[in-house]
Formats: sequence, structure tokens, C-alpha cells
Amino acid sequence: MPATKLDGTALAKTIRAEIAEQVAEHVGRGHRPPGLATVLVGDDPASQVYVRNKSAACAKVGITSLEHRLTPDTPQADLDALIDRLNADPEVDGILVQLPLPQGLDSKRALHRISPAKDVDGFHPMNQGLLLEGLPGLRPCTPTACMSLLAHHGVNLKGLRAVVLGRSEIVGKPMALMLLEQHATVTIAHSRTKDLPAVCREADLLVAAVGRPGLVEGFWIKPDAVVVDVGINRVEDEELAARIFAAEPKKLETLRAKGSVLCGDVRFGEAMQVASAVTPVPGGVGPLTIAGLLSNTLEAANQNR
Ligand code: GUN
Repeated sequence: MPATKLDGTALAKTIRAEIAEQVAEHVGRGHRPPGLATVLVGDDPASQVYVRNKSAACAKVGITSLEHRLTPDTPQADLDALIDRLNADPEVDGILVQLPLPQGLDSKRALHRISPAKDVDGFHPMNQGLLLEGLPGLRPCTPTACMSLLAHHGVNLKGLRAVVLGRSEIVGKPMALMLLEQHATVTIAHSRTKDLPAVCREADLLVAAVGRPGLVEGFWIKPDAVVVDVGINRVEDEELAARIFAAEPKKLETLRAKGSVLCGDVRFGEAMQVASAVTPVPGGVGPLTIAGLLSNTLEAANQNR
């Protein structure tokens, strides 16, 4: 029997409606609407789309978004100065510096400069430290999204063997901590892990967050495992596509019609034949990530009053 598709779009809609209600209540109590400042440096087309989507999502729930655009040759000192201004601005509850930054700019320095109370990405060392200690704080949106999806679908994490594929500060490491907090037994695997397929195959829950299209093949997955795919990759190469979409002819058709197609780190068609539940790409974790950002912005607004 094919696996259940874990739909993130429907859940994101429900969560956004709840946030819209909470924003209305916040405003009803006499406060100004929560404000999110986005900072986009340079003209990376994917980043432009992400920031636009985030601003549109804010508008739909009643959060004010204030967009700041800087040229790719902006010196670090100017970026620092903008972050300082936003930190001090009483109208701004949350600050998001879109990554990656253009070459020559130090993203860690920028992220560390954001006030932890306005760090709606949850990337500041203070917030990462609170997560490490299991204390409340602003938490990174993508792993939070994965946790909401798992909770919504009633996946009991207690005692599960979870493998997180990828060790980024944005997803892999915080994801591992959140799973550990819910009593899973967690392994972080990565590009240097020996016999990656065998390690992944031990997982009752496999979370893939490496940014490599179709890396995880069907035989990497333990029968009846739950698979969460965080990757969002654009594939244009026909040869690669023929390999990774062998069990998904529709993706091949899309590629031929449009010149490119989106896919995750997992071969979805193959995973559906082995796992008990799989998140699709697009329409899985992605829509929930923005819901996490909105929720963090509202939380920051409540805390910063
Ligand atoms: N670039 C890719 N994902 C993210 C994210 O979650 N936050 C920020 N600020 N930049 C990103």
C-alpha cells in the first residue's frame, strides 16, 4: 500500500487562520499590528521570491512587513548600521535578514547582531542556546514546521529512532535538538557519514535536509518509516531527472513542459512505495515554514510590549 502523503499546505492554512485571529486580538487589545522587517541584500532571484512570499503572508494575517533592500556591494558596516537601527526601532518586532548574503558579507556577524528578542528566524546564539537547554525562546522556523507536521499527524516520537540527514545550523542541528526534546533517539548524519544508506535505513523517522535533489533512494528507507523532506531543489538537468524521477513520470513531464521542476532531497515516488508517510515537495514542510515565521513575529510582538 502506498504511503500517506503528509500535506503541509492544508495545515499551514489552518495555522495561518489561527495566527490571523491572534493578531486581530492583539490589535483589539489596543496594540499596533506586529511588524516584521525583512532585509534583502543583492538580487538573488530565489531570495527575492522568498522575501516577497514572506511579506505577502504577513499582509494576509495582519502583520505589517517593512522591506529593506540593499545593493549587492553594500559594505558590512552599512548592513550593521541598518540592523542597529531596526533593533532600536519600536515599530519593529521581528528582523529577518534573508540568506544567503552576497559574497564579501559575513552572515554570522549579521545574524549575531540582531537583537535576540527580535530574532524571528531563531538563528541568534542566545536563541540557539535556549533551545539547547530546552527553554522557551524564538526557535528556527523550518524544524518547528517539521515538528508541527509530525504532531498534527499523530507521530509519537518517544523512543523512535530518528535520523537527521544534514547538520546545518538552520535546520539539521536544531531539528535534532527538537526531536531529542520529544524523546526520540537521534543520529545526525551528513556527507562524511560512512555508509549513509545503511544509517538512514535504521530510521523510524528520516528527516532529509541536505539540499541534494533526489539523494535519498527508496532502498535507503526502512519499511513503514516516516519521511520528512526539507529539501527544495530546482532540477533542470534531463539526465539527473531521468534517474531521480523514474517513479514519478509527472515530474518528468513538468520538466519537459517548463524547463525545470522542484523536488526534495528524497525520491518521492520511490519513498511512497516503502515508507508509511512522506512529505511532498512542494506542499510539505515549505508552507509551514512561513507559518512558523508569522507565529514567531507575533510571539516577539507579545514579548516586546
Ligand atoms: N534562506 C533560506 N532559508 C532561510 C531562512 O529560513 N531564513 C533566512 N533568513 N534566510 C533563509
